[in-house]
Amino acid sequence: MSLLIDRIGQLTTCDPVGTVLADAAVACEDGKITWIGPAASAPACDERIDAGGRAVIPGFVDSHSHLVFTGDRSAEFAARMAGRPYTAGGIRSTVALVRDADDDTLRRNVSRLVAEMLRQGTTTVEVKGGYGLTIADEERSLRIAREFTTETTYLGAHVVPDGIDADAYTELAAGPMLAACAPYARWADVFCERGAFDVDQARRILTAARAAGLGLRVHGNQLGEGPGVRLAVELDAASVDHCTYLTDADVDALAGGDTVATLLPGVEFSTRSPYPDAARLLDAGVTVALASDCNPGSCFSSSMPLMIALAVREMGMTVAQALWAATAGGARALRRDDVGTLDLGKRADLVILDAPSGDHLAYRPGVPLTHAVIQNGAIAFS
Ligand code: NIG
Ligand code: FE
Repeated sequence: MSLLIDRIGQLTTCDPVGTVLADAAVACEDGKITWIGPAASAPACDERIDAGGRAVIPGFVDSHSHLVFTGDRSAEFAARMAGRPYTAGGIRSTVALVRDADDDTLRRNVSRLVAEMLRQGTTTVEVKGGYGLTIADEERSLRIAREFTTETTYLGAHVVPDGIDADAYTELAAGPMLAACAPYARWADVFCERGAFDVDQARRILTAARAAGLGLRVHGNQLGEGPGVRLAVELDAASVDHCTYLTDADVDALAGGDTVATLLPGVEFSTRSPYPDAARLLDAGVTVALASDCNPGSCFSSSMPLMIALAVREMGMTVAQALWAATAGGARALRRDDVGTLDLGKRADLVILDAPSGDHLAYRPGVPLTHAVIQNGAIAFS
């Protein structure tokens, strides 16, 4: 079954950053892109979508989310907006709710948020556990996440739950909990931060996860300067996420390694924190990704267009850089080469925007601009 997306006004391929073709068409078959070129010479296909001069971009790759939860922490958000700081302590209130929830409640939450993401153009999403913090609750969180994506992340080391000492919990997270979760996880992540796991505990869990065959990710430098970024580079983690507080040594380490710096501007927005300087990272040659971090505490937004708008307005990125970071950058952060760019042989994941160019994603913040979403070569939303 072949599909032609015809009469594209502006096609942003993100390969490399800023590449735009005018008056283009894209053909796909069996879920893959088979042809890209001028609309005037497009091949015949079984089905045709007329983009009517609209812009087309790659589907967003949201490389960081926490969707396996239930409940609502809007009161915590309102308190922050009234002057209370974000401490990550609210994670424990979600943990209590998740432990009490049945599988279907958690499954429904993931399902509605993945659907919400798709409607906004996200075609690949990473989903973490981390709100169970027992062997059984982390295992079922990942089993449920796995029903929706192959990009699942073991985050047993999110915070130390009440009633257990941090070193004892570290051994649990590096031992039996990891063993129970590894069959359902592609990645392991640790929240390496004051108040969560220190650098030795994080290294212990991540090296055990690597030995169990998982790829590595780190939550680092969110609440202050710290060792998270350098640990991620030391372990060749695919990504270190947040990067809100960076020293020059952190930037140098990132520039010298293969670890992607994943920026989560929705968190700075929702916690009233200072935005990191993305231009500083890009100038140093660091690969930057943008992701939502969609979770009930630090950022309850699933919107990649919002992340692009914030990155452009608040973090010194050009629109082309932000669009790349939200697509190709997310793919790099997941070490995927089949998504995030539009090229022959790539997965046919595209968003038709209700706009003449990708610039509108930042130019028209807050406005729903999804006309249609093609995922795996089929219309997934229109
Ligand atoms: O990425 N920083 C740690 N974990 C999440 C927040 C989770 C929460 O507050 O519930 C984050 O910001
Ligand atoms: Fe997170």
